[in-house]
Amino acid sequence: MDSIGSVGLRQREGAPGCSQEGLPCPSDSSELVLECLQQFKVTKTQLRQIQASLLGSMEQALGGQASPASAVRMLPTYVGSTPHGTEQGDFVVLELGATGASLRVLWVTLVGIEGHRMEPRSQEFVIPPEVMLGPGQQLFDFAAHCLSEFLDALPVDKEGLQLGFSFSFPCHQTGLDRSTLISWTKGFRCSGVEGHDVVQLLRDAIKRQGAYSIDVVAVVNDTVGTMMGCEPGVGPCEVGLVVDTGTNACYMEEARHVAVLDEDRGRVCVSVEWGSFSDDGVLGPVLTTFDHALDRESLNPGAQRFEKMIGGLYLGELVRLVLAHLAQRGVLFGGCTSPALLSHGSILLEHVAEMKDPLAGAARVHAILRDLGLSVGASDAELVQYVCAAVFTRAARLCAAALAAVLARLQHSREQQVLQIAVATGGRVFERHPSFLSILQETVMLLAPECDVSFIPSVDGGGQGVAMVTAVAARLAAHRRLLEETLAPFRLDHEQLAAVRAQMREAMVKGLQGEASSLRMLPTYVRATPDGTERGDFLALDLGGTNFRVLLVRVTAGGVKITSQVYSIPEYVAQGSGQQLFDHIVDCIVDFQQKQGLSGQSLPLGFTFSFPCRQLGLDQGILLNWTKGFNASDCEGQDVVCLLREAIRRRQAVELNVVAIVNDTVGTMMSCGYEDPRCEVGLIVGTGTNACYMEELQNVATVPGDSGHMCINMEWGAFGDDGSLDLLRTCFDANVDQASINPGKQSFEKMISGMYLGEIVRHILLHLTSLGVLFRGQQTQRLQTRDIFKTKFLSEIESDSLALRQVRAILEDLGLSLTSDDALMVLEVCQAVSQRAAQLCGAGVAAVVEKIRENRGLEELTVSVGVDGTLYKLHPHFSSLVAATVRELAPRCVVTFLQSEDGSGKGAALVTAVACRLAQMARV
Ligand code: G6P
Ligand code: BGC
Ligand code: BGC
Repeated sequence: MDSIGSVGLRQREGAPGCSQEGLPCPSDSSELVLECLQQFKVTKTQLRQIQASLLGSMEQALGGQASPASAVRMLPTYVGSTPHGTEQGDFVVLELGATGASLRVLWVTLVGIEGHRMEPRSQEFVIPPEVMLGPGQQLFDFAAHCLSEFLDALPVDKEGLQLGFSFSFPCHQTGLDRSTLISWTKGFRCSGVEGHDVVQLLRDAIKRQGAYSIDVVAVVNDTVGTMMGCEPGVGPCEVGLVVDTGTNACYMEEARHVAVLDEDRGRVCVSVEWGSFSDDGVLGPVLTTFDHALDRESLNPGAQRFEKMIGGLYLGELVRLVLAHLAQRGVLFGGCTSPALLSHGSILLEHVAEMKDPLAGAARVHAILRDLGLSVGASDAELVQYVCAAVFTRAARLCAAALAAVLARLQHSREQQVLQIAVATGGRVFERHPSFLSILQETVMLLAPECDVSFIPSVDGGGQGVAMVTAVAARLAAHRRLLEETLAPFRLDHEQLAAVRAQMREAMVKGLQGEASSLRMLPTYVRATPDGTERGDFLALDLGGTNFRVLLVRVTAGGVKITSQVYSIPEYVAQGSGQQLFDHIVDCIVDFQQKQGLSGQSLPLGFTFSFPCRQLGLDQGILLNWTKGFNASDCEGQDVVCLLREAIRRRQAVELNVVAIVNDTVGTMMSCGYEDPRCEVGLIVGTGTNACYMEELQNVATVPGDSGHMCINMEWGAFGDDGSLDLLRTCFDANVDQASINPGKQSFEKMISGMYLGEIVRHILLHLTSLGVLFRGQQTQRLQTRDIFKTKFLSEIESDSLALRQVRAILEDLGLSLTSDDALMVLEVCQAVSQRAAQLCGAGVAAVVEKIRENRGLEELTVSVGVDGTLYKLHPHFSSLVAATVRELAPRCVVTFLQSEDGSGKGAALVTAVACRLAQMARV
């Protein structure tokens, strides 16, 4: 294979364009030709080096550390699977760039698995050179014009056409329909396109054309169209190889190996863009002076060096440069050149292919050379054929080395020693010059003997493949529209949030006045936040959150020391009888006292009771209604402090001095207020949600006195129970409410808090599955199970790291098999639900701090908010979204959010301490 045979040469003197130096004798000429063609000889070792270096560069780029030196780009294409033949429908395909100075428009009808394949209709349009080198807008207008001209000839509707755009240049894709051109290659160099989204440029041009409404749903690299257009039944092809004016390949890579993608499962098609491979170390020795000359003359010197040795756009030029060189050395054509021989691009790929083809015979070679104005000597034709063969063969062999690198990558990626793979081939070099494939095949077997490679010509140049991707993109786009429609009601804008703040403000004032309002604005009889003089040991209970805790709180000059124990409240107790519940509470207290050696001691006790209570005093709280899954009987309307004391009495030999009952919001405010005296608001976003704040006593109509402050428990969970939030409520909120144990109640809470967000997401997922948008429309029993989608899943799924992997892990545990698109959509559903919750919570806090600011007639208020609750603390973005919404809706308030470290048990103890101190002073 490596040797090229010797040739015969002829003598000539003095004509213009002829070399002046004496003509070499025949034997010298052939030496000169051989020495010249020697340069195009690429040894097996060099091919192996190119294969290895290209493989190295591919793996570097996959890992995200592409070294610009030898940059193959390894661009993810968002095509995640090879066609499963179910695609159906009519699609318009626009191909730009694959075939050089022409674009092609196709009408492709996909008929699915059953249907009989329909021959696509297509038309080719030559692109004028000034359009290929002019302003980008001109090029895209030209493309839009060709589209209309093509469609005018077809009996098709003008509306709702779906187009797949085959754009054969290196692009950063960020979606199936978003792709930014990195740099032009092959004869194109339009201005104002590099760095821009070419889909948008095409959409704008189609709009300017205005003849047809065409939806550009997918942009595809020609190698992907080629791979996807693999002859059905023989594929699937997992490599797409194009050699036309340019060259490139794509292949199906394991998604977990593509660093830029946060994927751990499945495959993704990667466009290698090997045209830009230029590792001087291995290419240097292969690059001939003719390659350097060609590159210097090219539109993009220094770029696409590898492509310029393989692509059909360049092979003719290489041959021309060699022939001109040999003519000027007097070796060919009697040492005479011609204007045509010296002009760029005068020898085309077709010429090379014909001239090298031994069957074409010398006659054809003579004809072509004569057309170039050359006088062809006897041996010239044969020598020219050698030159063509050398250039062509080198191209095929270099292409083989590159393909062998891709095959080696597939072996690594799939940990397969022996690889069986189908490669789809596309491009006119393959279509018109079968010898290219045979040289390539031969060389691949040499370089990758353990790979069993079958080469499958792509159907109609990839048009079918582009239509396949377009069909998938159209389906995904339709799904995306349905997803957007479903999530739109969760995307609250500034006006809507400002309206919530205003409505809450109005409800606050009404509640404080004792008028009908969904905000009960319950006085808590806490008049001051701690002042640091509190001292003593206190017992505290913390009921109503995720956990029931009993705490011993030691308040000293040195600070507060807490010892606590978590006890569970089983559902049957929380929803049993009130007596059972409070007996259970006392059992826990006794157990705690025994463990802490406190038995028999009657420490002052603060009771954090996180449910709406109308307080008549610090130690009197009438339970208005249960919330958050509690529903113990005979409690609502009762003073829960009495219920506790009765339970204590029932449990003889236990002494407890219940001094205060506080809401967890109050406990949290007090707990944080102990560290930061500016803390005048308490916020809980956990199982439930609520807020309290220090109100001017004069504004609290239901409590006598008009000086000083009192902490008001807003019970904002019930905000909207009067219908004032109905405009924002979605059908999914209604589903969750109807299924709850307190339908019609706690509307605001059911749109915000941890007990409900998971359920809202589950209902949305069920809805999207029923629309076929998710999980291929497969409903699973598990997903129909109440509370199976925990709110903590949202926090895990929305974590910045590993998001999609988390989604997969969680949903597969729920027995769902999902695609990466499914995973992305579930992530978006979680984001929409938690974002709405955080914004609504932020609107509530904005209403509270604005009330305090206006209460005090301040231009600007600086205040701190004590916060607790699992959702607020664990969700990766909830707290920052709340803060951002407060900044937006209460710009004149500087709000600091303090996460409570010790929970509200400490706060309850501090309230108890303040009460004891005040009682002490009252006794003195
Ligand atoms: C802390 C407080 C409790 C409060 C709870 C709310 O644990 O100490 O008083 O009820 O937070 O959050 P959760 O997520 O537990 O419902
Ligand atoms: C482009 C590739 C394309 C190849 C074949 C190259 O110049 O960069 O994107 O696939 O030509 O058309
Ligand atoms: C209760 C409030 C409590 C909040 C947070 C709501 O369900 O009604 O009293 O503060 O949950 O725990």
